[in-house]
This record gives sequence, structure tokens and C-alpha cells, in this order.
Amino acid sequence: MAIERTFSIVKPDAVAKNLIGSIYSRFEAAGLKIVASKMVHLSREQAEGFYAEHKERPFFAALVDFMTSGPIMVQVLEGENAVLANREIMGATNPADAARGTLRSDFADSIDENAVHGSDALASAEREIAYFFTNEEICPRTR
Ligand code: PPS
Repeated sequence: MAIERTFSIVKPDAVAKNLIGSIYSRFEAAGLKIVASKMVHLSREQAEGFYAEHKERPFFAALVDFMTSGPIMVQVLEGENAVLANREIMGATNPADAARGTLRSDFADSIDENAVHGSDALASAEREIAYFFTNEEICPRTR
């Protein structure tokens, strides 16, 4: 099993609903370690840059509005197959399709406001981690 790092966001809807601790508990219960974490309120420029690959999609403006509507928590998760493990913890993009017991099934109201983000591949994880964190802000966990 490979030890990986992945990037995660607790989105504005979940922060507003006071779900940070509940969501972090799910990561830890699944064996993922939080190795970096901070609260940020994205500017439009930051949100547009982060979601640049979606800029031609019809929901892009609404996505940027939502992601700048309040503070978010950004974190780096480390563990065995962390990218896939986090995707499984989150559930499908649309909470209506998300398996029971996943974060989006339990905490998200709609595809537009779906509680969490997680990198979809190792390459995007590296890019997304670097978008928010310097190397000095990431603390390797030795135990
Ligand atoms: S999809 O459905 O396969 O295109 O989704 P994906 O490419 O994984 O990510 C799309 C991101 O945009 C957010 N978003 C929406 N997706 C689809 N439809 C609508 N209406 C929509 N509104 C917002 C979705 O949550 C994904 O964001 P992240 O942060 O990556 O989860």
C-alpha cells in the first residue's frame, strides 16, 4: 500500500453548519492523518484559479459565488491510498447519488453545495496542495 497525500476542503456550507469537527472525525476514523490545516476565505481570483479546469462549465459562476460565500477549511490528508480513500469517505459529487454513510450523503444538501472537495488523482493532489500550502506548512507525521 502506498502512503499518499491528498488535498481536501470543508466547503462553506459545511463550515456554516458547524461540521468541521464531524468531518475531521471521519478522516481520522478512516486512518487518514491531517498533516496541514487552515481556515481561509477565498477571493474570487483564488476560487477561479482553483477551479480553472471548470471555467467553461455552466455552473462555474455559481461555483465561484458559493466557494467565496464564507470561510472554508483546507487540509492535507496523509495515509494509505489517501486519494481514493478520501473519495470513498466523501461519496459521489451529487449527494443524491452518494452512498449512505458518506460525507455528502450525510451532510450535503445539493450538488451545488456538497460539503467537501477532495483531489481526484495524485497529480491533482500535488497541484492543489501547492495551491494552498508551502512545504513548511506541512508537518510529516512520524507516529
Ligand atoms: S462532474 O459532475 O463529474 O462534472 O463533477 P467533477 O468534475 O468531479 O467536479 C465538478 C466540481 O464542480 C462542483 N459543482 C458542480 N458539478 C456538477 N454540477 C453542478 N451543478 C455543480 N455545481 C458545483 C462539484 O461539486 C465539483 O467541485 P469539487 O470541489 O471538485 O467537488
